[in-house]
Amino acid sequence: MNDNFIISKPVSKDDFFQYFDLRWRILRKPLNQKKGSERDNLENNCHHICIKDQNSKIVAVGRIHFISNEKKQAQIRYMAVEEKFQKQGLGQKILNELEAIALLNNVGFIFLEARENAVEFYKKNGYSIKKKSHILYDLIQHWTMYKKI
Ligand SMILES: CC(C)(COP(=O)(O)OP(=O)(O)OC[C@H]1O[C@@H](n2cnc3c(N)ncnc32)[C@H](O)[C@@H]1OP(=O)(O)O)[C@@H](O)C(=O)NCCC(=O)NCCS
Repeated sequence: MNDNFIISKPVSKDDFFQYFDLRWRILRKPLNQKKGSERDNLENNCHHICIKDQNSKIVAVGRIHFISNEKKQAQIRYMAVEEKFQKQGLGQKILNELEAIALLNNVGFIFLEARENAVEFYKKNGYSIKKKSHILYDLIQHWTMYKKI
């Protein structure tokens, strides 16, 4: 990742608009899902991370939340990088930042549900497959993956 990109947390209303819009465009629109389908009911209890380009446009996002009653566990969800910026290290940067937040909060174990196309990305970042998981919208096979940190 070069100096043209800045990693931060979304703060303003516009940040959050862009943040959820990117999620929707990358993760839901291609599956013909409506706006709103890119969110769940945990959004207010998560850590959100984004990367902005030199025009302050959000081009990569990711989220982590802690599992209630299981303080040592966390789940990463909704990782998405703008198509033209994929495979340039931005996803890895977001993942590293989410893991740093987990460490700061004494989390020892992170899991996630990886889309089939993203399994190699997570393997490169130290995640292992635990089991075959659900099929999203009857279209995309997911794999449960985990990492001890
Ligand atoms: C999956 C995703 C988040 C990865 O982010 P990214 O910015 O493209 O990935 P990075 O450039 O940080 O990749 C880090 C490493 O993983 C590798 N990698 C990334 N995506 C990969 C893929 N699909 N298959 C194989 N390797 C991959 C990169 O080549 C790189 O390896 P290197 O360090 O040896 O060069 C991003 O491509 C994306 O948004 N994809 C579409 C949405 C999606 O599938 N999200 C995940 C939902 S679980």
